[in-house]
Amino acid sequence: AEQNRELRERLLQLKKERNAIILAHYYQRDEIQEVADFRGDSFLLAQKAAETDADVIVFCGVHFMGESAKILAPNKTVIIPDERAGCPMADMVNVDGLRKLKAQHPNAKVVTYINSSAEIKAETDICCTSANAVRVVNSVDADEIIWVPDKNLGHYVQQKTDKKMIIWEGYCNTHDMLTVKDVEEMKAKHPNAQFVVHPECRPEVVALGDFVGSTTAIIKHCKESDCQEFIVGTEDGTGYQLRLDSPGKTFHFATKYLVCPNMKVNNLKKLVKSLETMQPQIYVPEDVAAKARLSLERMLQVK
Ligand code: 13P
Ligand code: SF4
Repeated sequence: AEQNRELRERLLQLKKERNAIILAHYYQRDEIQEVADFRGDSFLLAQKAAETDADVIVFCGVHFMGESAKILAPNKTVIIPDERAGCPMADMVNVDGLRKLKAQHPNAKVVTYINSSAEIKAETDICCTSANAVRVVNSVDADEIIWVPDKNLGHYVQQKTDKKMIIWEGYCNTHDMLTVKDVEEMKAKHPNAQFVVHPECRPEVVALGDFVGSTTAIIKHCKESDCQEFIVGTEDGTGYQLRLDSPGKTFHFATKYLVCPNMKVNNLKKLVKSLETMQPQIYVPEDVAAKARLSLERMLQVK
């Protein structure tokens, strides 16, 4: 505790010196969320990165999030606490594979989940997050959509749109692990609880949801709902904001395995060190960034 107090003081000082803001995804460790200027889901944090007038953005999340921030704010310095924090789902699609699919479906437009590399975004018509996926797909001026990389979110969106979706086979290791059996056991134990679930979970698990949404949407729903007890089907770091916003309510995570090891690579010590050394920094080659930026900016414009 003493060491964390010293780290927090050092962080405040460095933040001022560097004119930096700290953005933290809801899946980060509590010790990081506590010191963040903004906590949020992927959508909100991308918006904050695009809007900020700070000189330095410290992005606490996984690599593609820092990359998206750099693409949206090319004149800022973007640093991350540890460059080994990647997203395995983002690595499940490659440029060659996507180009092949585009050649097979020349009339289709590409909608890419923000959980993807800059190179994939550069091959994309429009990006989306779990917060706006249905709206983004419906906004596209084509009947056919190539969807990468999350098959589970893709399946969820396909149920809510008339467009024909060609869905890549990627998935989030963490959310995809949750099973119907896990949820049914929890429901039997807590019969008065609502099940709130992230659309990165398997379709048959999402189908059990009383509420389906991005992490921000889940947190908002739990706060506003009359229900007092929830079974949560998303990553365990979300508990920090859930408890802060709904202090009287009870939250049961659907299993103890809903932990993204990549998100947890970051910690307070590495965060302070990154701001001290200004390393590791995110670089995106400008030709890639310019194309990727269009797909992100189109997303930010969808109402
Ligand atoms: P959201 O931030 O859109 O809820 O997505 C969850 C996620 O898995 C981020 O990596
Ligand atoms: Fe990637 Fe899943 Fe971790 Fe999000 S929770 S960073 S989608 S592995």
